[in-house]
Amino acid sequence: MSQEEWWRTATVYQIYPKSFCDSNNKGTGDIQGIISKLDYLKMLGVDAIWLTPVYQSPMIDNGYDIADYYSINPDFGTMSDFDNLLEEAKSRGIRLIMDIVVNHTSTQHHWFQSALGNKDSEYRDYYIWKDPVNGKEPTNWQSKFGGNAWEMDELTGQYYLHLFAKEQADLNWENPKVRQEVKDIISFWAEKGVDGFRLDVINLISKQQDFLDDEKGDGRCFYTDGPRVHEYLQEISQDVFQKYGSVTVGEMSSTTLEHCQQYSSSDGMELSMVFNFHHLKADYPNGQKWTKAPFDFIQLKSIFNHWQTGLNGKGWGALFWCNHDQPRVVSRLGNDQEYRELSAKMLASTIHMMQGTPYIYQGEEIGMTNPHYTSIDQYRDLESTNMYDIMVNQDKSVSHDEMIEILDQKSRDNSRTPMQWDDSLYAGFSKGVPWLSVANNYKEINAKQVIEDSNSVFYFYQKLIKLRKDIDVITSGDYTDLFPEHKELFCYQRQNETHRLIAIHNYYDNEVGICLDLTGKEARYILSNYEDVEGSIPQNQMVLRPYECRVVLITK
Ligand code: GLC
Repeated sequence: MSQEEWWRTATVYQIYPKSFCDSNNKGTGDIQGIISKLDYLKMLGVDAIWLTPVYQSPMIDNGYDIADYYSINPDFGTMSDFDNLLEEAKSRGIRLIMDIVVNHTSTQHHWFQSALGNKDSEYRDYYIWKDPVNGKEPTNWQSKFGGNAWEMDELTGQYYLHLFAKEQADLNWENPKVRQEVKDIISFWAEKGVDGFRLDVINLISKQQDFLDDEKGDGRCFYTDGPRVHEYLQEISQDVFQKYGSVTVGEMSSTTLEHCQQYSSSDGMELSMVFNFHHLKADYPNGQKWTKAPFDFIQLKSIFNHWQTGLNGKGWGALFWCNHDQPRVVSRLGNDQEYRELSAKMLASTIHMMQGTPYIYQGEEIGMTNPHYTSIDQYRDLESTNMYDIMVNQDKSVSHDEMIEILDQKSRDNSRTPMQWDDSLYAGFSKGVPWLSVANNYKEINAKQVIEDSNSVFYFYQKLIKLRKDIDVITSGDYTDLFPEHKELFCYQRQNETHRLIAIHNYYDNEVGICLDLTGKEARYILSNYEDVEGSIPQNQMVLRPYECRVVLITK
């Protein structure tokens, strides 16, 4: 494994700055707040930080609507704060990954402002404009945040495309000038010494150019993993990423394994690794997100099996349960009441023992839960408030009470609540009123408490990060699901030439017996979330207690 591939044994920590730490009590987090917590991250042991967007932005979508790629949003601080962060992180051996959002810009970006209402603008062709068809939108494509994906430009009578909010206009990647701008932006940050880039919805950048109605779906078949996407990524990789040795992770929306094998191929022609979201749709019955539904455990395992076996030797995946768009995993797949700590650890073990690069989302390492809001007024996320309006007020497909339950399960705000640092007012996140309410459980669940408890979720994550560095089979081994049809246990084997690693996870609150082949020169437990297991010699037959996990390492 070459030096450039440090990221194969690394763990990344995702920071959502608005909710991480507020240094000057305005109610929103900032860069100085992040700097003040670097020692905490060092103690956790992470190798890199992925910082979600901190650029100049009207914050319609919390920074995923960028108005200037070359400056820092004053709410977060200044460019000198940013430089300071980079330096302070580096001095602790922590690398920095920036979020690059180039499928679209904010409509406040000067390119769009010049293009709007002016067909002669030199920036008009930076975006995607179409004439009306039969007096209506050019196609029936739907925005990912609800409603049609086209917005009228009254002065010119043309529509522009926005796959997300109408304030997020899609860039026209067919235009080589746009691609040059993207390369200039990325080079600017790479020159500063940033180590890598997370590329927002990067598999949506190439649209099929005939712009047809989608007879079956919402339009995604015309732009997901589109016709020129690999060509574009190769161009940027060659001209920028390879030049700077940047690590790259692409966010892939509704993608396929075959495309991801190519995006993340070890020939390094496109990206280092990919995020895919299929495993986080195990609680979307028939692909429908906006429903309240239990997760399908067998399906969850089968999706992991497909991706773990399919990427092995061909590509590289990011391992994650949580991010700023997903609810908290302990509330989603675990038990956020009686078995909160046990299930948080068990879930962490499930993905940290797989092949890939794990990502920890702020607060996951202390077992933070969904806030269980009870009023629509507590939500800030535009996707959540849009969907409430569409489903409750416009379509009347669900009642207010049903929608509150759906949001409690599915809203992106579930993970965006302020980081719980201690048991003081506003959880030590800020002394001012936070922009989004802190979860009520902050007095019991906070970073101060977990650091004082040697048996906490925090130290379990610390151990997982270290195990990946110490035990090669976690990185290199192949993957076999040992009991794909088992209704309660998620039990898989990782294997290379010298070792077998068996990871066993009970996803339920009852006891389950299991019989395993643990033969080899030596077998030992390397991890468990119950204290009495580690150190003892594993038996072929074992009984897993509620939410128990055990990991056995066998020398062949
Ligand atoms: C990605 C981001 C999400 C954002 C969207 C549009 O999915 O993670 O937060 O809303 O892209 O940029």
